[in-house]
Amino acid sequence: MNQAQPTAHRDDQGGEQFALRVDGVSKYYGSQAAVDDVSFALEPGTFLTMLGPSGSGKTTTLSMIAGFTAQDRGSITVAGRDISSVPPHKRGIGVVFQNYALFPHLTVEQNVAFPLEMEGMRRREALVKAREALEMVELGNRAKHQPKQLSGGQQQRVALARAVVFEPPLLLMDEPLGALDKRLRTQMQIEIMRISRNLGSTVVYVTHDQEEALVMSDLIAVYNNGSIEQIGSSRDLYETPRTRFVADFIGESVLLPCTDFGDGTCGGAGWRGDAPSRAAYTPEGRGVLVLRPEDLALVPEDDGAAAADAAGAERANSILGVVTDVIYVGSALISLVEARDGRELEVRTPRSEAALAVRRGDRVRVSWRPENAVIVPDDMEEARGVGGELATRQILAPGR
Ligand SMILES: Nc1ncnc2c1ncn2[C@@H]1O[C@H](COP(=O)(O)OP(=O)(O)OP(=O)(O)O)[C@@H](O)[C@H]1O
Ligand SMILES: [Mg+2]
Repeated sequence: MNQAQPTAHRDDQGGEQFALRVDGVSKYYGSQAAVDDVSFALEPGTFLTMLGPSGSGKTTTLSMIAGFTAQDRGSITVAGRDISSVPPHKRGIGVVFQNYALFPHLTVEQNVAFPLEMEGMRRREALVKAREALEMVELGNRAKHQPKQLSGGQQQRVALARAVVFEPPLLLMDEPLGALDKRLRTQMQIEIMRISRNLGSTVVYVTHDQEEALVMSDLIAVYNNGSIEQIGSSRDLYETPRTRFVADFIGESVLLPCTDFGDGTCGGAGWRGDAPSRAAYTPEGRGVLVLRPEDLALVPEDDGAAAADAAGAERANSILGVVTDVIYVGSALISLVEARDGRELEVRTPRSEAALAVRRGDRVRVSWRPENAVIVPDDMEEARGVGGELATRQILAPGR
């Protein structure tokens, strides 16, 4: 399996050879860190996608790997070779950057053939290869055009053909499909996956499109403020986010601030429940219970649990509220429930008779199973004050 090895030096012991290793890399602009101590390592053939808000350091990281920007700290090795002092065109890396322009005075096919000719391939042979690459991106019929005669999306596809034509072992792509419409975008996603798989290339890919990231990647690195908050498979990030930011950023989530009661239970405004096995709190015992809308169930308010809850004896794993909206989306119903503290919870229920009977204004209990939840440390203010005095501790499930 392809795996991230965020800790350095692992390959020194294990003898593994990473296709790309980024080790403690930082880049400062003035006193501001654009990239702050980023580390990851990729086995050959891994498809890594960087996701994160605008300005979080994705392009800067890519640019340091490509050699367009020099890092201030850390090292970058490609297939075991430290490339810090190797100029960009000698790194053997295929690059598609959003602003990485085509040569305006060359035709489309000459643009694509260019890296091959740089490597010493004869022009005729290079042009044959270039044509093949252009066919792949559906631009075989534009080979003799000038770049300025093409649309933005077509130019992007030429840049893609030029990046893959010399079959680089490492491909860097910064929002390569940004200018394409939905149909072409989906088609090119599949094409990029196919090309990189056929070439066995290791890919570092940047996108703003979460769905695109989930579809294409072996690994996703979630960037925030110049650092990687978490790196893992789509499933890891969705099911076991490690920070509130990741829980919020990946997929839809319901976040309930909570307090560690120190006896295997936790609770927040108007609820108490069993702490999930994956629970990490701040040193003050503050956390956020992370739930996904499809893991929540709606039960009538007067269910037996209500009485137990009122008595405070039971760990109800549920919260009371009022349905404010029911949205029919075909395969499912999305109910929005306002909890007593004013918080809005999104509940996604598969289409069924019971689900269809839910009405706006219904008083309901939103319940969950602790095994579908995780608790991440809450670094925000709002959970303060819930539950009074707290034990200082951190619970981590075995193997985490
Ligand atoms: N040449 C530069 N000079 C000064 N600051 C820069 C420079 N390049 C990038 N930055 C800053 O570094 C930070 C990271 O920028 P970067 O382009 O890596 O973000 P990004 O994650 O690619 O964002 P986006 O999703 O908008 O493309 C930003 O705050 C940006 O303003
Ligand atoms: Mg960028």
